[in-house]
Amino acid sequence: MKKRDHPVDDVRRFLEPGPVVLVSSAWKGKTNIMTMGWHMVMSEEPSLVGCFIWDRNHSFEMIRRSRECVINVPSVTLATRVVGIGNTSGANVDKFARFGLTAVPGRKVRAPLIDECHANFECRLVDSSLINRYSLFVFEVVKGHARATPKFPRTLHYRGDGLFMLAGPTVGRYRRLFKREMLRA
Ligand SMILES: Cc1cc2nc3c(=O)[nH]c(=O)nc-3n(C[C@H](O)[C@H](O)[C@H](O)COP(=O)(O)O)c2cc1C
Repeated sequence: MKKRDHPVDDVRRFLEPGPVVLVSSAWKGKTNIMTMGWHMVMSEEPSLVGCFIWDRNHSFEMIRRSRECVINVPSVTLATRVVGIGNTSGANVDKFARFGLTAVPGRKVRAPLIDECHANFECRLVDSSLINRYSLFVFEVVKGHARATPKFPRTLHYRGDGLFMLAGPTVGRYRRLFKREMLRA
């Protein structure tokens, strides 16, 4: 296959994980929401998720200090609000009010769930050792909530440069080739 050089600072276009999520937090009586594309599953048991949270975001200190957040999974119906939340700092704005979202109390954490999102994962910070160096927060999901239908919601996936991919069909045609045991450490 013939290929061209590709800039190493643009691998996100190919490797960016999905879906774009909304991370909600609470600290000193205030709540906040940020949009996040850079996250990855690190373990199933315990359920660990690594998240890149830029230190210039208002959420950074709120989550570092409270040691909690909720990872909320929006579907395409919330796309405009997902971008708006990512364009706004929570330093002076109540994003729940500004974007007309409903805060629901968490069962295990003080950070609120976003009711309009398809799924909500309550998280506790379990490893802060990579925050100073990489802005990488390692969370354990301690409680999950998800709608039963649709099973695979139409999620948003960021491709950089203001472009989004919308989740397409889920197919079972490769399932017979799949060896589940090969995916476990
Ligand atoms: C599609 C999209 C993906 C984003 N991904 C991240 C991310 O992975 N990490 C991050 O720190 N900021 C990310 N941002 C930027 C934050 O959402 C943005 O800075 C936000 O305003 C932070 O809010 P806060 O200052 O109230 O915490 C993303 C924004 C958008 C629109």
